[in-house]
Amino acid sequence: MDAEEILTGLGEERARAVALVAEAATLDDLREAEVRVLGRKAAVPRIQRSLGDLAPDERREVGRAVNEAFEAIRAALEARRSELEGAREAEFAESDRIDVTLPGRRLPEGSLHVLTQTERLIVDTFTALGYRVLEGPEIETDWYNFEALNIPPDHPARTMQDTLYVEWPGRSDLLLRTQTSPMQIKAMETSEPPIYVVVPGRTYRHDTLDPTHSPVFHQVEGFAVDQGLSLADMKGTLEEWAKAIFGPDQVVRLRPSFFPFVEPGAEVDVSCFSCGGSGCRICGNGWLEIMGAGMVHPKVLENGGIDPERYTGYAWGMGVERIAMLRHDIPDIRLFYEGDVRFLEQFVGGSA
Ligand code: DAH
Repeated sequence: MDAEEILTGLGEERARAVALVAEAATLDDLREAEVRVLGRKAAVPRIQRSLGDLAPDERREVGRAVNEAFEAIRAALEARRSELEGAREAEFAESDRIDVTLPGRRLPEGSLHVLTQTERLIVDTFTALGYRVLEGPEIETDWYNFEALNIPPDHPARTMQDTLYVEWPGRSDLLLRTQTSPMQIKAMETSEPPIYVVVPGRTYRHDTLDPTHSPVFHQVEGFAVDQGLSLADMKGTLEEWAKAIFGPDQVVRLRPSFFPFVEPGAEVDVSCFSCGGSGCRICGNGWLEIMGAGMVHPKVLENGGIDPERYTGYAWGMGVERIAMLRHDIPDIRLFYEGDVRFLEQFVGGSA
């Protein structure tokens, strides 16, 4: 082959190589193309290797053309590489782009448990009437939970409340309070009349969990000691409370009942908020039994260091679960404790 032919072939190979490089669609393609145009088996390097066969002056001419071909191919590789890298960076930038117009992500909203909401609602209606909130321990002594409340050891009333006792070295009088009533005594021990307190809290009984019983539940106790308090004061207070909780048309009714720490004692019924008193699925006979209450027994006042000749008092105790179940038509007490979000989220943002 003479120099003329070699130069023609070189021109063609150079053009082919530059075109191949320009076609590379990705950086990987480009690396492959580089091997094909500059690798050992590639055309231009092969021509370079054959320069030795040429006469010196031809070799100079063809050699210069070969160098130019290498430069052109390298320039084409470099140009394509920077194009492809530029495109890749733009792609990354696009995928990283922050859309400042997107709305923020909403976090799931938590809320107070419906029992907490109900307890607060109950308590708030009494504090609005001037009552003070008092809280006490869940582990109590037999004295505060029973004896001081006029329930001596062998009194049949003890079987009304199945007690969970606490084992403690050297003591046999500790128990989980079965009611919030022990705080009546502590209220009298720690303050002078006039006393107006509400006691929200957890209470415990040896009951099996079923749709209407739970071994752990909640009560709100009310307790007032002052001069000249009568059953009428108590009824008025509870009626005021019932209107706040169940609606402005509520009336309450007292039915004679027995609790050792009150005399007289009563069950307090409110007129059914659902049917208004005519009788329905919720109430049966138009009335809903809501709590126990009564005039504080003179012995209980004495046990709290208060002279029953000078002062009288009234007290009540109600179950928070029962009130929440009535207000929201909840059929099963266990729903409160299972932590099922589908149940709980119905009360998000509510105030019971
Ligand atoms: N402690 C009673 C119970 O748990 C409820 C109760 C009844 C409380 C009458 C009172 C009351 O203060 O006067 O069943």
